[in-house]
Amino acid sequence: MSAETTTPRLEIKNLVRHFDGRRVVDDVSLQIRAGQVTCLLGPSGCGKSTTLRMIAGVEMQDTGEIWVDGKLVCDTVFRVPPERREIGLMFQDFALFPHLSVADNVAFGLHGGSKAEKRARVEELLTRVHLINHIDDYPHQLSGGEQQRVALARALAPRPKIMLMDEPFSGLDNRLRDGIRDETLALLKEEDTAVLLVTHEPEEAMRMADEIALMRSGRIVQQGAPYNVYTRPVDRAAVAFFSDINVLKAQVNGALADTPFGQFLAPGFPDGTDVDIVFRPQHVRIDFDRNGHGPLPTPAEGVAARAVVERARFLGHESLVEFRMDYDGGILKATVPNVFLPQPGRAMWLTVRRDRCFVFPA
Ligand SMILES: Nc1ncnc2c1ncn2[C@@H]1O[C@H](COP(=O)(O)OP(=O)(O)O)[C@@H](O)[C@H]1O
Ligand SMILES: [Mg+2]
Repeated sequence: MSAETTTPRLEIKNLVRHFDGRRVVDDVSLQIRAGQVTCLLGPSGCGKSTTLRMIAGVEMQDTGEIWVDGKLVCDTVFRVPPERREIGLMFQDFALFPHLSVADNVAFGLHGGSKAEKRARVEELLTRVHLINHIDDYPHQLSGGEQQRVALARALAPRPKIMLMDEPFSGLDNRLRDGIRDETLALLKEEDTAVLLVTHEPEEAMRMADEIALMRSGRIVQQGAPYNVYTRPVDRAAVAFFSDINVLKAQVNGALADTPFGQFLAPGFPDGTDVDIVFRPQHVRIDFDRNGHGPLPTPAEGVAARAVVERARFLGHESLVEFRMDYDGGILKATVPNVFLPQPGRAMWLTVRRDRCFVFPA
């Protein structure tokens, strides 16, 4: 492999930042290649923006290094100033210049090159974001979504090596957002930029990211392709970050955990370990009551447990049914595609897909 394919566009190594004695960013390392989108995903306050601001150069790390294309950009001694880092920025309040036309907003960051070259780049980008007809308009004449696209064109105009985006879509209403996300992603890929996108919304990360870095309390707790992070979560909180969860409490005996749904494999746990068996509502199977019986046990789904419908709601693409479980009186959630609205009080039998359960130490 050539150096070009092996050197990451952006690499951060062991970044640490304290505020008031608290480690807000705690040993964060990441690599992003050209044309790749990495999402830094985590709850509010976990240190995402601070990480981004250090990469941008507007915040200084206590320790750690930032490298671009194999060159050191910033450590605790050496520091390339923000304006020379070739980094594009996009935030939620992207604030276009109100007194400049769309064309002048996009041209704002373009330095060097002839007037004609600048104009060509502006026209290229505005065509690409479908706003060429608005080139002489002013920001107040545009909708929120259109302004967002101008901001994207402005950030990309100088051909930044890296785009840093901090919750850039959270100011847009839901229906607009999906379209703009897809368009933005297509443009970023075309420009071959390395993108670090910060978001607290798992759906956004799943939709945009080649790789998700799941962050919690200043640390990256898991990193990988969206599919892998979703289907092989590292702990209970990682499952819960992406969806509702159900949890069964159990104790391990002979590498098996006994539950009202039958036994679950718990390899590697010593006897007596308390474990949480975690599964998502879409992996619960619902069967009808057959004169007081459920389905027979199967190797894949174990034993059925009896429950009574507490309430059922239609959510559009699926229905959410909450069951009160006979075995402990607790609630268990199940989702079913399309419409399924059984009457409250009705008895049913639930099984759990063994291949979609996660066993973690309690
Ligand atoms: N300039 C600052 N001074 C003091 N505390 C800060 C400062 N910036 C951020 N923090 C704190 O650091 C933590 C992480 O903040 P931030 O990086 O903005 O999180 P996120 O973007 O994930 O919501 C928060 O608790 C926040 O209050
Ligand atoms: Mg933030």
